[in-house]
Amino acid sequence: MAKPPKLTIVADADALAQAAATHLMARLAEPRDRFAVCLTGGSSPEGLYRLLPSEPYRSRIPWERVHWFWGDDRFVPPNDARSNAGAARRLFLDRVAPPAANIHPIPTDADNVDAAAQRYAAELRAFYGTERLDPSRPLFDLVLMGVGNDGHTASLFPGQRQVDETERWAVGVPEAGMEPFVPRVSLTLPALASTREMLFLVVGRGKRQILARIMAGADLPAARAHAQGDLVWLVDREATPERRDVA
Ligand code: 6PG
Repeated sequence: MAKPPKLTIVADADALAQAAATHLMARLAEPRDRFAVCLTGGSSPEGLYRLLPSEPYRSRIPWERVHWFWGDDRFVPPNDARSNAGAARRLFLDRVAPPAANIHPIPTDADNVDAAAQRYAAELRAFYGTERLDPSRPLFDLVLMGVGNDGHTASLFPGQRQVDETERWAVGVPEAGMEPFVPRVSLTLPALASTREMLFLVVGRGKRQILARIMAGADLPAARAHAQGDLVWLVDREATPERRDVA
């Protein structure tokens, strides 16, 4: 049985970045030979990404042992401003330059989104070591997630069939349900769930309404996200619904 989600409310975007970094550092302090962290796109994780190349984080992160993956990406070249991998590179990975073999972007040079999804799933399987996910051995140590105003998470949009995927680890998403309207590649809910911890990062007044709907039990992709381990919604005060917002 999945544990119920935990809601943590912090003052603002800066506090949220600090709190997210604290979660990451706690995971990376566990006694493991290697770690797998799944990054998210959008603006909400930017504060966290900016912190990582600075002290005290930079020297405490065991860069040689951490592998960086993405929960989704836009099907654009890595140097395109809309690329999630490109954003994380600019904000922290390029500033630290961990071993290149530890960085696992979604291959947007594939012929199409389905081919990219297949290649990424194969890369994840090779990293994990077996074909099937074993609940006692999660794929990821930490999965970062965001929520869109429509309730999407990763690139799993409400009403699209990819949300219901139960077998594949990654899927092509030919049509995005929200801007930027470029095709996407996304991990699926079961692959994302194979984690010791999932951390949603939610910032700003614009998220209040969708959070209210999720808290009221709406069936949306972000509400369906679950985790083998802890599921934490880290939300700043601006994004937190008032009691009257929750129907
Ligand atoms: C993407 C993201 C997406 C994002 C949400 C929230 O590629 O668009 O992975 O799922 O997390 O849309 O985005 P913001 O943080 O910008 O609100």
